[in-house]
Amino acid sequence: MAEHWTLDYIKWDRFTPDKVDPLMLKAVKAASLVEYNATDYVAYLKEVFKGDPKTIAEVERWGWEEVQHGEALGRWAELADPTWSFKDAFARFKEGYKPSHFLNPNGSVRGSRIGELIARCVVECGTSSYYTALRDEAAEPVLKQIAHMIASDEFKHYRLFYDLIGIQPEKRPNLLKRLYIAATRVSEAEDDELASAFYYANVARDAEATTPYDRKLYAKLYEQHAQRFYRQHHIEHAVAMIAKAVGEFPPESRVVRWAGRAVWALFVWRAKPVAA
Ligand SMILES: [Fe+2]
Ligand SMILES: [Fe+2]
Repeated sequence: MAEHWTLDYIKWDRFTPDKVDPLMLKAVKAASLVEYNATDYVAYLKEVFKGDPKTIAEVERWGWEEVQHGEALGRWAELADPTWSFKDAFARFKEGYKPSHFLNPNGSVRGSRIGELIARCVVECGTSSYYTALRDEAAEPVLKQIAHMIASDEFKHYRLFYDLIGIQPEKRPNLLKRLYIAATRVSEAEDDELASAFYYANVARDAEATTPYDRKLYAKLYEQHAQRFYRQHHIEHAVAMIAKAVGEFPPESRVVRWAGRAVWALFVWRAKPVAA
């Protein structure tokens, strides 16, 4: 297997401060915390795949790559905003965000290993389209390079979990259940994790008392900052990848193309601004 990139592959000396988009910087700070938090997911997935050392080894490698995404984005954010500390923001995020299924990891919250893998495909599909969109829109050259390398990792992660679905000995859940898993994972992406990450990444420690966490507001702010750089083709591609993971729906089929357009319309409609 090819050697994975390291932080030394990044051409940090090309950093161009006046090309930093301040709103994009807020989204990158939040993303760095979520990526770096992957060790919690690793522990959870190791529990789900207990007794399957091959999958556990893949999960460990995957988690290591996600942590590295967090490190690269965090280092870039510190360059772009020297007053910001990745370590400090992450420590506060870790303290403030504790999802219940990570506290009691005793099996899959999706009900089956295949369900868990479909959910992972949905997440990887979301991150691959996110970093592709970020790469396409970023004017700052170092961020563009980082987003490009992360996007290609996220596509590989999608492929990894997609291939693992095919080798599970268990019976596939029925189509309705698979659609349900994919849909609930998509809506969970808007849950507390992203909202908390946005809050702890962008509200300074000494401002916490006067600016308390409001899940609904910060979920909306995260969404708004992240959505700014998506274009229609990014969303349509993501929908086709999710459809492939669910099965039964060929990515080029009419229903998938229609769903892609519908999701994009919904996306545009939801992108109404709220006060920051
Ligand atoms: Fe990642
Ligand atoms: Fe990933």
